[in-house]
Amino acid sequence: MMKPTLIYTADGSHSIYLPHLNEHYHSVHGAIQESMHVFIYAGLHAVANNPINLLEVGLGTGLNVFLTMIENKNQPRSISYTSLEKYPLTAEIYQSLNYAKLLNEDEKDFLKIHQCAWEVPVAIHEHFYLIKHHVSLQQWHTKQQFHLIYFDAFAPEKQPDMWTEEIFKKIYELLEPGGIMVTYCAKGVVKRTLKSCGLQVQSLPGPPGKREMIRAIKPKQTIL
Ligand SMILES: C[S@@+](CC[C@H](N)C(=O)[O-])C[C@H]1O[C@@H](n2cnc3c(N)ncnc32)[C@H](O)[C@@H]1O
Repeated sequence: MMKPTLIYTADGSHSIYLPHLNEHYHSVHGAIQESMHVFIYAGLHAVANNPINLLEVGLGTGLNVFLTMIENKNQPRSISYTSLEKYPLTAEIYQSLNYAKLLNEDEKDFLKIHQCAWEVPVAIHEHFYLIKHHVSLQQWHTKQQFHLIYFDAFAPEKQPDMWTEEIFKKIYELLEPGGIMVTYCAKGVVKRTLKSCGLQVQSLPGPPGKREMIRAIKPKQTIL
């Protein structure tokens, strides 16, 4: 496997390129821009709960954790953020990421996301608890349900096993009734699979460079 490479995206923020998959962790049009649009504006802002149980599929660079933590400083709610990662990044890579600098935030807060212990909840900021699991979504089992899921797997063409009916049935079970899942992907086949698993699907305008994105909602009541 070739080494992950640090790249610059169009808004100046870093992302990672994986040569063996020919895939980036974020949109090359802007990593911070994309994460704000898809996960913060279309996800976090669409959920009114307090406390919030949030699940992320794919911790990666920690950018979504960091942006959620920063956003929560404005009108703090209590956030329990669970993040799954099958292939954690090395310290060499995460220490080079320029997110704290670009966002005018304390680098120590960003590093805490990567350096805190796995498998236990850690208060990494006021009202913000992070629990990282070093596991794949497929291998992870819980009875917990979530108000919000950030579904940030690699694209369907690169990682088809993450966009199947089996996976979205699991996402359905992981959502609270009325809970939502957001993803940057907007493929027709993904929308159809989500619907076949009982989720309501909304197509929203995508971030720069992408026409659409998906928000999926678990209905509050199932009609028998
Ligand atoms: C598109 S990247 C996005 C990562 C992250 N959200 C970010 O902002 O950097 C996808 C992430 O999912 C992780 N991943 C791949 N397969 C996975 C699986 N089966 N379960 C959980 N995470 C997985 C990858 O290692 C990678 O970190």
